[in-house]
Amino acid sequence: MDGPLAGRVALITAAAAGIGAATARRLATGGAALALVDCDSAALDAIAAALMRQGAAVLALPGDATDGATVDALVARAVERFGRLDILVNGVGGWSCQRTVQQTTEAEWNQGLALNVTSAFLCARAAIPHLIASDAGRIVNISSQVARAQQHLTTPDYVAGKAALLALTRYLAKELGPHGVTVNAVAPGPTWSPRTRQAWSPELVAQIERETALGRIAEPDDIAAVIGFLCTPDARHITGATIDVNGGYTLV
Ligand SMILES: NC(=O)c1ccc[n+]([C@@H]2O[C@H](COP(=O)([O-])OP(=O)(O)OC[C@H]3O[C@@H](n4cnc5c(N)ncnc54)[C@H](O)[C@@H]3O)[C@@H](O)[C@H]2O)c1
Repeated sequence: MDGPLAGRVALITAAAAGIGAATARRLATGGAALALVDCDSAALDAIAAALMRQGAAVLALPGDATDGATVDALVARAVERFGRLDILVNGVGGWSCQRTVQQTTEAEWNQGLALNVTSAFLCARAAIPHLIASDAGRIVNISSQVARAQQHLTTPDYVAGKAALLALTRYLAKELGPHGVTVNAVAPGPTWSPRTRQAWSPELVAQIERETALGRIAEPDDIAAVIGFLCTPDARHITGATIDVNGGYTLV
């Protein structure tokens, strides 16, 4: 496919749904070849097949992005298939049921941090040699508005993990800048995805819409458009940044 990312190879985690799947569509439209990671192999195969029908080069890599050995093996398979890796988008993250600090077990805390920050560390660590070898290496981390301002309660491990991800973004930007690799984060506000469509009550949706300056909940492609931009040559001098994409949900 032609486009600003022609000849580039991108690895995206959490690629089978929501923002990750929209990012896969964006980067494919830009011309990148894709290595798509998700633990839901059926949904991953469906996304990969749809993108291939549109002419994209896609490798589906089912697996758990919180496991270091698995991540190392998936990155190696991507490089074996495509011969290079230029772009890493860390999309794995999330939370399920709202919990207070007192309701949170040590195991839930550790799982939340594994999902929301350790997975990005593991993927970056495995990808760095290949990103340095690229002449335009890119990492984009998907954080959240919860790392920028405290509004509705979610879980303590989710907010701590997403905030840690922003610090890791700046650390990686400093470390990899001399190698020409840019590292940025996006901080989405409330965004429609299979998970949020199930979880949010009509009352909560109406409240979020009232609290959002632009008056609507984001579509996944609203976020993917910004991630896609950060991967293009036009974003070459942006690094260590966090881009809020929340329709004015937090105006701080
Ligand atoms: N949707 C929102 O309102 C919102 C807002 C801010 C930030 N985010 C962040 O955006 C990212 C994507 O969220 P979403 O709501 O678009 O998608 P989602 O939660 O609906 O789907 C996430 C995908 O990740 C996969 N996944 C989960 N754990 C995994 C693991 N350990 N290894 C590999 N794959 C795994 C799931 O199978 C699923 O396909 C997350 O990091 C989330 O925290 C979402």
